[in-house]
Amino acid sequence: MASACFLMSLLLLGGPSWTVPLGRRDSTNSSATMANSDLPPPQFNLNQLIDSFGNKTLNPTDLVALSGAHTIGQARCTSFRDHLGEANINTTFAASLRTSCPAAQSTSTDNNLAPLDVTTPNTFDNAYYSNLLSQRGLLHSDQELFNNGSTDSIVQNFASNPSAFTSAFTTAMIKMGNLSPLTGTAGQIRRNCWRVNS
Ligand code: HEM
Ligand SMILES: *[C@@H]1O[C@H](CO)[C@@H](O)[C@H](O)[C@H]1NC(C)=O
Ligand SMILES: *[C@@H]1O[C@H](CO)[C@@H](O)[C@H](O)[C@H]1NC(C)=O
Ligand SMILES: *[C@@H]1O[C@H](CO)[C@@H](O)[C@H](O)[C@H]1NC(C)=O
Ligand SMILES: *[C@@H]1O[C@H](CO)[C@@H](O)[C@H](O)[C@H]1NC(C)=O
Repeated sequence: MASACFLMSLLLLGGPSWTVPLGRRDSTNSSATMANSDLPPPQFNLNQLIDSFGNKTLNPTDLVALSGAHTIGQARCTSFRDHLGEANINTTFAASLRTSCPAAQSTSTDNNLAPLDVTTPNTFDNAYYSNLLSQRGLLHSDQELFNNGSTDSIVQNFASNPSAFTSAFTTAMIKMGNLSPLTGTAGQIRRNCWRVNS
């Protein structure tokens, strides 16, 4: 399953480890339409994020903890361009991103990448949360988690307490891995987590 692969990636990056429930069945195909109908877009506000995670039995602590996966990886300019012009972004941070992601929509800049965690882009740590405290969330949806709302205190806790983050993250990852797994003969147990069995 995806979370076993994700776990292996985290181990390489110095992230937390946890016991993965084994024998999860993966689909043999994927659907971009289905994926996009269930994945929240980066334009969502806090209430919409809480609602969409709630629809999957994930609570606001799970939402904030799982968003901490944005301690690694990158996003395309199209995913954060509009956020650069919003009021709740660090002006120094926004100005530096504007050099590769200018305000005007253009196919020549749409796919330019920026790290989701500006301070430690290749390390699995809790810097994602301290970035939010200095208004350096890359996505609109990231900064929504610390924008004078009900999840501010969770962000503050994870920013100052790495083990609280690690513990909440692993709890939420296991919860996510238990969401309607395939059963019976549906799908397959992969021999290699990142590809369909040959
Ligand atoms: C809270 C709701 C979330 C939203 C709105 C969101 C949105 C996004 C967006 C827009 C990107 C960049 C995609 C692009 O520009 O092509 C991204 C990247 C990423 N997201 Fe999320 N995400 C969310 C939650 C999560 C969760 C729960 C995880 C995993 C536990 C996760 C892991 C990642 C990773 C690892 C990347 C980087 C991918 C790469 O570099 O190839 N995200 N996310
Ligand atoms: C959550 O589920 C409700 C009921 O199915 C649906 O109306 C709503 O659009 C969903 N919210 C999100 C953000 O997916
Ligand atoms: C903006 O980010 C810088 C670090 O690049 C930080 O020193 C400053 O405090 C941040 N400003 C605000 C308002 O958080
Ligand atoms: C929260 O509200 C205060 C006062 O309205 C404002 O100065 C501050 O910038 C806001 N912080 C965030 C993260 O939006
Ligand atoms: C895709 O995989 C799912 C789960 O194994 C299965 O139910 C579905 O029939 C498959 N669809 C196609 C088009 O193969």
